[in-house]
Amino acid sequence: MQNGRSTWQEQEEASPYSLVNICLNFLIANLEKLCSERSDGTLCLPEHWSFPQEVADRFLGVMTWQGKLTDRTASIFQGNQMKLKLVNIQKAKISTAAFTKAFCHHKVIELDATAVHTDLPIPDIISGLCSNSWIQQNLRCLLLDSTSIPQDSRLLFFGQLTGLRVLSVFNVCFHSEDLANVSQLPKLESLDISNTMVTNISALLACKDRLKSLTMHYLKCLTMTKPQILAVIRELKCLLHLDISDHRQLKSDLAFHLLQQKDILPNVVSLDISGGSCITDGAVELFVRQRPAMQFVGLLATDAGYSDFFTTKQGLRVAGGANMSQISEALSRYRNRSCFMKEALYRLFTETFSMQVTMPAILKLVAVGMRNHPLDLPVQFTASACALNLTRQGLARGMPVRLLSEVTCLLFKALKNFPHYQQLQKNCLLSLTNSRILVDVPFDRFDAAKFVMRWLCKHENPKMQTMAVSITSILALQLSSEQTAQLKEELFMAVKELLAIVKQKTTENLDDVTLLFTLKALWNLTDESPAACSHFIENQGLAIFIQVLETFSESAIQSKVLGLWNNIAEVRELSSKLVTEDVVKHISSLLHSKEMEVSYFAAGIIAHLTSDTQPWMSHDLQRSALLQDLYATIQNWPSSSCKMTALVTYRSFKAFFPLLGNFSQPAVQLWALWAMYHVCSKNPSKYCRMLVEEEGLQFLCDIQEHSEADAQAQRIATSILDDFRMHFMNYQRPSLC
Ligand SMILES: *[C@@H]1O[C@H](CO)[C@@H](O)[C@H](O)[C@H]1NC(C)=O
Ligand SMILES: *[C@@H]1O[C@H](CO)[C@@H](O)[C@H](O)[C@H]1NC(C)=O
Ligand SMILES: *[C@@H]1O[C@H](CO)[C@@H](O)[C@H](O)[C@H]1NC(C)=O
Ligand SMILES: *[C@@H]1O[C@H](CO)[C@@H](O)[C@H](O)[C@H]1NC(C)=O
Ligand SMILES: *[C@@H]1O[C@H](CO)[C@@H](O)[C@H](O)[C@H]1NC(C)=O
Ligand SMILES: *[C@@H]1O[C@H](CO)[C@@H](O)[C@H](O)[C@H]1NC(C)=O
Ligand SMILES: *[C@@H]1O[C@H](CO)[C@@H](O)[C@H](O)[C@H]1NC(C)=O
Repeated sequence: MQNGRSTWQEQEEASPYSLVNICLNFLIANLEKLCSERSDGTLCLPEHWSFPQEVADRFLGVMTWQGKLTDRTASIFQGNQMKLKLVNIQKAKISTAAFTKAFCHHKVIELDATAVHTDLPIPDIISGLCSNSWIQQNLRCLLLDSTSIPQDSRLLFFGQLTGLRVLSVFNVCFHSEDLANVSQLPKLESLDISNTMVTNISALLACKDRLKSLTMHYLKCLTMTKPQILAVIRELKCLLHLDISDHRQLKSDLAFHLLQQKDILPNVVSLDISGGSCITDGAVELFVRQRPAMQFVGLLATDAGYSDFFTTKQGLRVAGGANMSQISEALSRYRNRSCFMKEALYRLFTETFSMQVTMPAILKLVAVGMRNHPLDLPVQFTASACALNLTRQGLARGMPVRLLSEVTCLLFKALKNFPHYQQLQKNCLLSLTNSRILVDVPFDRFDAAKFVMRWLCKHENPKMQTMAVSITSILALQLSSEQTAQLKEELFMAVKELLAIVKQKTTENLDDVTLLFTLKALWNLTDESPAACSHFIENQGLAIFIQVLETFSESAIQSKVLGLWNNIAEVRELSSKLVTEDVVKHISSLLHSKEMEVSYFAAGIIAHLTSDTQPWMSHDLQRSALLQDLYATIQNWPSSSCKMTALVTYRSFKAFFPLLGNFSQPAVQLWALWAMYHVCSKNPSKYCRMLVEEEGLQFLCDIQEHSEADAQAQRIATSILDDFRMHFMNYQRPSLC
């Protein structure tokens, strides 16, 4: 980005958390454990602890950010163990009593009480602060944006805070009389009265010789005429920063008139007139040329900012919609104003159509906008579309994982806040089709799986359905078996829906990508999930899959069908359902397939089914024949370390153990050993660890030493153990046989 300010953000996103932050996060997460409890139920730090002021300020800031500041926790700031100077309690829900006790004895020079809960209204904040004469004289900065004032209270007593230089009452029920009192403050330099009830700004004349910054965005109740307002502004000779931006819908032409004035604002360096009507490039240009010190002009949602003057002028920042730098400036400046956020995001969206480079700084600003306006549908919707285009395909690769994670979480939050808004849902779904996000980025996969499975059953257009199916197949593997088990309802619906898709494709004789994704999803969903396996059987899965085998002869399809049947065969309570004439006919034929993985999966099913004599009571001859065939087939296979088209993976070896322990069925043992050796040779670190953790080594040792064991089985067991020793030689030596 050309925007110099953005680079630190990029670096911060891409680098590890700072040690201080890690420590603070740990302390805050464990506050309950570390602190003792007072008799009134509030927390108290261990006696000998004390924090230097900078750390204490940050500690409070992080607590506030995480939403952990409450009456119970704020009490750790009582007394003198923590020394606070910059107090940040944004959005906290604390009572007046807790506020006064915890914070008003510190030497506070700044208080940010933006959007605190109504339990702590402005008059209480002021009287709390004024209870300490040091604060009364030394508090410099007070931010009270979106804070409440009870109906019955009239005049606010700001006049007592005589040290105040910066005051912000954006979106507060603040009247002209309050302004009159505030204007008397002897040191006031910066004032934000945006979106307040002020009708008359004449009182500002009282501070005309000290006011440097005046923000009066969307001052909707003003009753003065344009000349009257301009007459006041003209008197504010020290003003360096003026913001008279407005909602576009109000069609205010105050800025238009201001721009015509020659002898106004001689020292101004920053002027914000975004949203104003009738503003032209020429008028702004003239104004800026007459004031060469100007560094910033806000022109978003106006007709200005497009001429060469603005895109070439050095040292002038513009918040606007004409180019990427202007949009970036707007996203950054207007992060707290939803009306402009919307506008800037909309401009950004059109810019992203032709975007070729990764822009982490811009994506970060989009995330900030989403976080700041969670309940604003246009912001959420436009932001989700921007996020999508900013991370599409290759672009995500250059984005820091932490940023992608934040964006993904915000998208899912939007989904929860607007459950019935289809296009937003589509954007969330589309973002998950991004392989970098789906594979590398941390986010709540359980929630995501739930959402995607529900989506699956919505009968959306085929393209969206294919996406939902493909995401399901990948997410299914990323959930733990416990999580899959918790997805009861969704799992049932998803299996049913996926089977319906398979059935339809089979009837239409259409082996497209959707069919392949669907088979893959079913395969992966049933992996280690007895519940999914039983839903499969309840929904006529066996009959449908036999139909698939009889309709299509591609090995890619066959191996997925057999892979899924393997999952069922591994479930003791269900495996007998596979012992039917049709199923056995197909697997014994596919055992001889030339495609290694087809033969492999067929063999696996046979191994599992024959290892249990129960279902074969009246067909024991058939069982023996299958076992012989299995044994003979494995003799003809290449070595276990051979390559197969499908990458076989297992989450656990536990299903193999019953197969390994029975020496009267060498063919079954042999298949299990071949399979284990195969995966161990492909991914030694994963599967060697699994062998140790699941206590599988003992089975291998037993086979190696057993007098009746099959010679080939012994050879494979020995090979696995040898490889295992080699793999762990340098760093771990579990005792072996
Ligand atoms: C208004 O402010 C002045 C100081 O500037 C103060 O003396 C006075 O008490 C304030 N009035 C009210 C009603 O707060
Ligand atoms: C604004 O206040 C000033 C000073 O109190 C007063 O003279 C003026 O008439 C007021 N203007 C309006 C439009 O109310
Ligand atoms: C966009 O405009 C700014 C001035 O507002 C200029 O500095 C910048 O070079 C322009 N960027 C592009 C990409 O044209
Ligand atoms: C936006 O509001 C937050 C408080 O919610 C404040 O800390 C931040 O400085 C504001 N940012 C801008 C650019 O106004
Ligand atoms: C950005 O998103 C829009 C709508 O989702 C799409 O039409 C457009 O093609 C996307 N642009 C790029 C370059 O992907
Ligand atoms: C999931 O499906 C893929 C693709 O079909 C396959 O390679 C993989 O082995 C399956 N994993 C499990 C555990 O079923
Ligand atoms: C081993 O398999 C045979 C059938 O081949 C069965 O009768 C026997 O019970 C099994 N032994 C164990 C220990 O499971």
